[in-house]
Amino acid sequence: MKKELFALKGTICYSKNQREMIFMEDSYVVCENGVCAGVFSQLPEEYKDIPVEDMGNRLIIPGFTDLHLHAPQYAYRGTGMDLELLDWLNTITFPQEARYADLSYAKKAYSIFVDDLKHSFTTRACIFATLHRPATELLMDMLEESGLATMVGKVNMDRNGSPELQEESAKASAADTRQWLEDIKGRYDHTYPILTPRFTPSCTDELMAELGKIQMEYHVPVQSHLSENFGEIAWVKELCPTSRFYGDAYDMFGLFGTKPASNTNAAHTANNSAASTANTDSGISNDSANGINICPTIMAHCVHSTDEEIQMIKDQGVYIAHCPESNTDIASGIAPVRRYLDMGLHVGLGTDVAGGFSLSMFRAIADTIQVSKLRWRLMDQSLAPVTLEEAFYMATIGGGSFFGKVGSFEKGYEFDAMILDDHNIRHPQEISTRDRLERLVYLSDDRNLVGKYVQGRKVI
Ligand code: GUN
Ligand code: FE
Repeated sequence: MKKELFALKGTICYSKNQREMIFMEDSYVVCENGVCAGVFSQLPEEYKDIPVEDMGNRLIIPGFTDLHLHAPQYAYRGTGMDLELLDWLNTITFPQEARYADLSYAKKAYSIFVDDLKHSFTTRACIFATLHRPATELLMDMLEESGLATMVGKVNMDRNGSPELQEESAKASAADTRQWLEDIKGRYDHTYPILTPRFTPSCTDELMAELGKIQMEYHVPVQSHLSENFGEIAWVKELCPTSRFYGDAYDMFGLFGTKPASNTNAAHTANNSAASTANTDSGISNDSANGINICPTIMAHCVHSTDEEIQMIKDQGVYIAHCPESNTDIASGIAPVRRYLDMGLHVGLGTDVAGGFSLSMFRAIADTIQVSKLRWRLMDQSLAPVTLEEAFYMATIGGGSFFGKVGSFEKGYEFDAMILDDHNIRHPQEISTRDRLERLVYLSDDRNLVGKYVQGRKVI
């Protein structure tokens, strides 16, 4: 097979580690069969004849992973934000999501969502659909067509919904989930299923137990919500009196990351990326044969997690999707992200549309920095604000690693890249590359994105 080889030339920016970035002007990033072959200031001899697309002084950065958002909620983004979580779900979200029983509405709404996501600063995303199987499959078809790489969940909910939005029983919900996983087997290249119990208040113990079985059988990752809001946390205590804390109510059913093996094998327990585990379609194998249940898991929010819960998140390699805009809009609070970073937890960023109103991951970076400053100033001066470098890392490698080697231009990473033209952000003085990137964080809009690659595919 002929190798697909090309290079992009421009001003290249990516994370060296969680605290530092690399900026290289007039440099090349090489893509070989969808994978980065490295960044070079001069093209090495072996690449001297490959096609080079010269971007001038435009910025070339790795793609962003939106680790948590709701596709059906895009339709009403920017409205209904004077409520807290539980009232917001009941009065706005559930009636809106019920509309996706109608496939023609779903088609109209999801076309807008997918088109906007394709043209946003997102290359990868972990997405909640609704409980409706046909509309979820339609969304997956459209996302596959877009060229983005995504994980999509048919939502499970068998209690505390509304008459229009609730599955008829745990059995029916589980059967529909199995049917969904069977329907999409082998159908996609870069669209993957992810099990999606909405949150504990929406799922009976019986349903959670069924989902635990499905996870073991199909080796699919899991996404849900955790410790977002005080009312929600108190409700989980009532609904699951035997759980020690909220996260334990997922763990009881094997839906909370990778259990450390009793005979600890660090190599196994640390390797918890969904791409190294996942389902048959994405070629992921599971280590359950060795008695280790590998369940790559994303929990959105973790605003009010207790010490015990945070320790279990760490021990079991659970990913935290930090969603600062949503946490502000529906008044949930400010997650202690500095603590999570310093503990070495996996933290990515999510827009949580439509708790968040914007699809922009640059905005998620700005919000992360801003709310961390308010938390530090007003709540806890022991937790220093998050820096630009740290928030950029979370938006790239932090969330990207849930998909595998994603979010960097180092050799061996999947080739996800965005080309940014910032000439409309005018300035009379010379500025550094870092300042150009920082300005894009705060000032960018659609005009600034002029190219996008995912796994080496040109998407726009
Ligand atoms: N918890 C349960 N469902 C939802 C949802 O749709 N959005 C948010 N932000 N939290 C939730
Ligand atoms: Fe959410």
